[in-house]
Amino acid sequence: MKETCMFKKKLQKFDHKTLIKCLQAEDELQQELFQLARQIKEEVFGKKIWFRGIIEFSNICQNNCFYCGIRKGNKKLERFKVSKEEILDCLKFIDKANYGSVVYQSGELISEIFKKYLLEIVKTTHKKYPQLGITVSCGEQDFNFLKKLKQAGAIRYLLRIETSNPELYANLHPEKMSWEKRFGCLKSLQKLDYQVGTGVMVGLPGQTIEDLIRDLKFFVDNKFDMFGIGPYVIHKDTPLGKDAKIQNWWQENKEKNFNIFLNFLAILRILLPNVNIAAATACDVFDSSGRIKVLQVAGNVIMPSVTPKDCRDKYLLYQNKPNIDEGADKSFKCILNKIKKAGLEPVFGEQGNSPFYYKHN
Ligand code: 5AD
Repeated sequence: MKETCMFKKKLQKFDHKTLIKCLQAEDELQQELFQLARQIKEEVFGKKIWFRGIIEFSNICQNNCFYCGIRKGNKKLERFKVSKEEILDCLKFIDKANYGSVVYQSGELISEIFKKYLLEIVKTTHKKYPQLGITVSCGEQDFNFLKKLKQAGAIRYLLRIETSNPELYANLHPEKMSWEKRFGCLKSLQKLDYQVGTGVMVGLPGQTIEDLIRDLKFFVDNKFDMFGIGPYVIHKDTPLGKDAKIQNWWQENKEKNFNIFLNFLAILRILLPNVNIAAATACDVFDSSGRIKVLQVAGNVIMPSVTPKDCRDKYLLYQNKPNIDEGADKSFKCILNKIKKAGLEPVFGEQGNSPFYYKHN
């Protein structure tokens, strides 16, 4: 326990040795780290878990990220866009389930047709369900469009930086994608007073422990309100997934990396007690209770899929995505049971906004 207090202080001061030790923690030390993170989380949120129903409404993407299954260059993938009627059905479900929030996520497009569609969806949602917290996660968009979305009723925006290291970013993306531009977009979102969420993938090829420490520093320095962080999972129809060396490396290191991922989230919670941290779906690839593990240690938000059943197997950012054969109702019941079983308290009918946002705004 004495050591626990000590590493809390050391972590908060960004003591390099302690960060390395905690990121690599296993067994007893890891349990101590988890306990500290849990205690800090419960001081702010108790055992409460907030819901957002996520609608992955289109897998059409203009980008060619080397890790992502819905990259433009994946010609094997059938592309879809969920119709307005279907979106209204999803909203009915969210309303009935009393989730409190909706997330609109898609591949990145900046065409006028796409922007018009997204704006319409957000406007309709806000009009029909004014109490619902609306999050958008549709990639890098220009300032004026982000402003219009906010005026239409969006209150939160999720845009992962993917890695805080611009060099590693350049290795994982085609030349025309720029880390600086992505960071600029996060700054625009903050200027527009969104609750801004970001995140990285943990366990990327070429990512070092130093990169992860840099990510944590980046998160703290830039005052983000929410985090969506997940483990990197290989996808066979991507440049990274096709590389035999990377495939072997990933298979051999996935368990170790998942452990580092859990430690990373625990440290993040210790550094930023009152931000929202979501348990990413990718966690369940490694372990069917992966998301629950995150919620027990650091997370306070879960985003069950509300995506129409026939679209789910086409929104595969990574391989072995769980629950793609089930509908919204089953996703809900399944995760609700697990949450209750874990001794956590599901919250309904609340937006579950980030307390951190209200402190700095
Ligand atoms: N493994 C894990 N996460 C991925 N994402 C994209 N591809 C993968 C993958 N192979 C994540 C990115 C993106 C988010 C929507 O999904 O971090 O920002």
